[in-house]
Amino acid sequence: MATSTRSRVLEIVSMLFVVIMIMFTKIGDVSADAGACPKCGSLEVPYPFSTDASCGDPRYRIYCNNANELQFMSAKGFKYKILSFDLSVNKLIILPPDLLVVNDNTPTCYSSDFSSQGLTLDEQLPFNISTRNTVMLFNCSDNLLRSPLNCSSSSFCRQFEDKIEACRGTLCCHFLKDSRMTSYMIRVRLGGCTAYTSVVDIQPHDPVDNWNYGIELQWLPPM
Ligand SMILES: *[C@@H]1O[C@H](CO)[C@@H](O)[C@H](O)[C@H]1NC(C)=O
Ligand SMILES: *[C@@H]1O[C@H](CO)[C@@H](O)[C@H](O)[C@H]1NC(C)=O
Ligand SMILES: *[C@@H]1O[C@H](CO)[C@@H](O)[C@H](O)[C@H]1NC(C)=O
Repeated sequence: MATSTRSRVLEIVSMLFVVIMIMFTKIGDVSADAGACPKCGSLEVPYPFSTDASCGDPRYRIYCNNANELQFMSAKGFKYKILSFDLSVNKLIILPPDLLVVNDNTPTCYSSDFSSQGLTLDEQLPFNISTRNTVMLFNCSDNLLRSPLNCSSSSFCRQFEDKIEACRGTLCCHFLKDSRMTSYMIRVRLGGCTAYTSVVDIQPHDPVDNWNYGIELQWLPPM
């Protein structure tokens, strides 16, 4: 009887030991990589985003620029300003690129990310381009007329065109970035279109100045 009680106690003690070891391992993991990063100036860096190897999750790498701007980097190394995060739906919005400005301060009808062919996401990372983006393309070649894009005179891009003198009078088109297309790229190139912008959840009847300019990205949360 005494022997079996002792072995029962030993059994419980060793089980407790295992449980405590597991708890310590978990706590160890948390402090090693799961802490949120410190603020970037006055900007919160929400978990799992990581501005530094010592915090956040490295797959959600972003950059703190000048302590006043958070940036998202494309697969080609081009950085886009992050405008907002919506943690409740795992989405963030980045600022579409400006037009490229040449030495005498004249804007061209080329996006500033033209040399990286527009926005390309790394397919190995947990981000994609959401289906709420209406992309407007400018200075498109005639080939685009044979594409499913809307290049008609009633395309949304016509409303925006007046705001960008450098692209006025070029062929422009728009499309909704839906799930039938690649969700990892918005492409610009010679022989295609050379500039673009994007509007999140377009409200066609609102004035163009009130449109929500941005590129919405969606992320898969860490397991
Ligand atoms: C439009 O793109 C073509 C190449 O596709 C380029 O040669 C031309 O300079 C561009 N036009 C403007 C206004 O930038
Ligand atoms: C192009 O888009 C406009 C604005 O949404 C729409 O009124 C028009 O029917 C579209 N045209 C084509 C050919 O899809
Ligand atoms: C983008 O990623 C989200 C989250 O992983 C996923 O639910 C969605 O289906 C993806 N969208 C596309 C168009 O691949």
